[in-house]
Amino acid sequence: QLKRKNLRQLISTHLPGSVKEILAEFGAVADQLGMQAYLVGGFVRDLLLRQQNLDVDIVVEGDGIAFAEAFAKTTTCRVRTHEKFGTAVIVFPDGFKIDIASARLEYYDKPAALPQVEHASIRHDLYRRDFTINTLTISLNPDHFGQMLDFFGGQRDLKDKAIRVLHNLSFIEDPTRLFRAVRFEQRLGFKIGKQTERLMRSAVQLRSVKQISGLRILHELKQILDESRVVAALGRLDQFDLLTFIDAKLHFDQSTASLFVAAERASSWFDLLYTGEAYRRWLLYLFCLFDNLSNKGAAKVSRWLGMSPADHTLVLEQLPKAKMLLKRLRHRSSKLPHPQNSEIYFWFDGLAIEIILYLMACSDQENLRRWLSLYTTELRKEKIILNGDDLITLGFKPGRSFQEIFIALLKARLNQEIQTRDDEIGFVKANFQV
Ligand code: CTP
Repeated sequence: QLKRKNLRQLISTHLPGSVKEILAEFGAVADQLGMQAYLVGGFVRDLLLRQQNLDVDIVVEGDGIAFAEAFAKTTTCRVRTHEKFGTAVIVFPDGFKIDIASARLEYYDKPAALPQVEHASIRHDLYRRDFTINTLTISLNPDHFGQMLDFFGGQRDLKDKAIRVLHNLSFIEDPTRLFRAVRFEQRLGFKIGKQTERLMRSAVQLRSVKQISGLRILHELKQILDESRVVAALGRLDQFDLLTFIDAKLHFDQSTASLFVAAERASSWFDLLYTGEAYRRWLLYLFCLFDNLSNKGAAKVSRWLGMSPADHTLVLEQLPKAKMLLKRLRHRSSKLPHPQNSEIYFWFDGLAIEIILYLMACSDQENLRRWLSLYTTELRKEKIILNGDDLITLGFKPGRSFQEIFIALLKARLNQEIQTRDDEIGFVKANFQV
């Protein structure tokens, strides 16, 4: 039964002015074209939960592309269209984007065919969606601006904090929803409903995940690994046996969970350094997830997941290197507590920041953590002052010896033997012959 409620007030208090203006304009344009326009999906869900979400998704009953183009005439923006899907993206000058989709229900198109079905097209569009909490819509046409339509019990489930599918075949039709269910459950602090849980287990038993590509699983996995309750989410994936579809040996046991917690600590530590460097948290966690796979096993999974060539190289080359290093340094730390800075530098030089953080997470010894920290906060930023031209001015001939001189200079600088430009010149003169 269709439930209505007006959210004008909530929109007015919770959305930024610029977004409100755009929404009102959408309604006006829809009216002019004789269409109905609706806000749908995560945006509506999060508005009701009073959570920030500026991913605006609009569905119009009618031709979404014509709608986007008519809207574009009213303000400065670009429109990208996908004719095949009847979708468009409106891109504003500041980069803000809004997705427009068309709800077209071909055989309901003639109103006479099914006059009793109110909002047939939008209802049909929403029925294809994953969970009830994602099926709430808000009308944008001026006459009923702000009116929420709830066809499938989305409000009840928001209130019950329940993740529920709309029908029994949902997970069979789209097995990526198995992962999405876990992601939403953990992100929102909800609980997957009993019947929905049964449907998940039976979809797992039918091995439906096997129908989806590694790349799509990677897409889901990335999003889960980027959530803040990542440990709980992975635990849930394991409970539903979803990790075994990635690799039979993949499990989220106590030791993987501890490694995740340590990775969480390493990533907060890095965030607090405010280096402004971008790194991918999901990749750090993926390395942790691979922890009980062999090097070969990890490479196989990475290939199957369709990771980008650069990320695949990290799994293929840097991850094994990091693991070897870890073994070596664990052994070494008791024997040689005070390595030189230059030695520390060359242990870690060239490793991606995600690998450094992975090493940090794996470091169960104080010394190891200190070295990694010293490398990350100071050593890796050290640069020598002299360049090739300076060496030529000093009388050196360009060639391979330059590299040797640069490395010697860097080592001396790392070990705090030299500081100024003059120190460097003196160092070169004292140690190398023209
Ligand atoms: N959707 C779906 N099945 C999928 C993926 C998406 O039914 N496998 C639907 C969902 O109902 C969702 C909408 O498409 O509301 C948009 O998808 P997406 O942007 O992934 O979802 P959001 O709910 O916006 O999630 P997020 O907050 O993570 O962006």
